[in-house]
Amino acid sequence: MKKDKILVIGACGQIGVELTLALRKIYGESNVLASDLREEHELLKGTGPYVSLDVMNKEMLHVLVIRHNITQIYLLAAILSATGEKNPLLAWHINMQSLLNVLDIAKEEHLDKVYWPSSIAVFGPNSPMQDTPQHTIIEPTTIYGISKFAGERWCEYYNHRYGVDVRSLRYPGLISYKSAPGGGTTDYAVEIFHEAKEHKKYTSFLSENTYLPMMYMPDAIRATIELMEADASKISIRSAYNLSAMSFSPKEIAAEIKKHIPDFTISYEPDYRQQIADGWPNSMDDSQARTDWGWKPEFDLAKMTKDMLDHI
Ligand code: NAD
Ligand code: SER
Repeated sequence: MKKDKILVIGACGQIGVELTLALRKIYGESNVLASDLREEHELLKGTGPYVSLDVMNKEMLHVLVIRHNITQIYLLAAILSATGEKNPLLAWHINMQSLLNVLDIAKEEHLDKVYWPSSIAVFGPNSPMQDTPQHTIIEPTTIYGISKFAGERWCEYYNHRYGVDVRSLRYPGLISYKSAPGGGTTDYAVEIFHEAKEHKKYTSFLSENTYLPMMYMPDAIRATIELMEADASKISIRSAYNLSAMSFSPKEIAAEIKKHIPDFTISYEPDYRQQIADGWPNSMDDSQARTDWGWKPEFDLAKMTKDMLDHI
């Protein structure tokens, strides 16, 4: 019987740490090779194999895939929205070339599956803001969103043209406590918990009524694994699926935190990230994911807030 051998690229990031640990539970520690540019994350140490890898070096990546008999790749390395706006050409280069390297090696080596995440950032100010549909106007205005949209088209192209089984989700902003977020516009919804616990106050870089789609990390990890384990016949979207769990504003999450920490206060000093958030959906319609492979979130704002405060 063929064994799955999984390579996670960008394993030390906000998603990578938790996804690697979850995959190791399912596929066995030694069958999930974690890799990143950075030093191995503390939570990964002793849980399975780790290699240092720059995904931009296609030759090294190719050798690694052959040497370790890799059958699946999860590509998580990227430059996120806020960091991307500081150096657009670098963000475009890294986000596109990393994906092209992986897709091309997947084609050449006939890998079983590839996972690459997209984002709500593919949508722009001309998309419908409420319950943004799967198929609608897509005119991203950030370089991060542009690179994600182009990436989605490449994924579909490699699937249709070469049969590469690549799957993708448009994650909302992800909230977690195990590893820190890496330079996104939705990071306020993680920072707020740390500041609430430590200082009982937080200054939000988004204005009080900025609604964004959000998701708790356990739901995001489960969605990723459910998508990857779904029968190929159930995957009708080969660009990226809309994915949704909850939607809230800084004012609403602050009110929820206040239920647990009554003297918590919030103030607002919107910065350049406000403009990025203003172009993104307030909420997402993920009915295609629900219909195709049975997606259903477990965490709403109240349940997520309690769990975050219990764990930080
Ligand atoms: P992150 O910034 O926390 O982690 C990315 C990891 O990739 C980092 O550990 C970094 O060191 C590594 N990396 C960067 N360049 C690399 C390179 N050249 N070679 C190897 N590794 C490299 O990001 P994340 O939040 O974990 O996001 C992972 C993926 O999910 C990204 O594609 C991101 O766009 C997408 N996504 C994230 C969110 C979110 O809220 N976190 C939402 C939507 C989509
Ligand atoms: N959370 C991500 C960001 O803000 C969305 O993809 O960049």
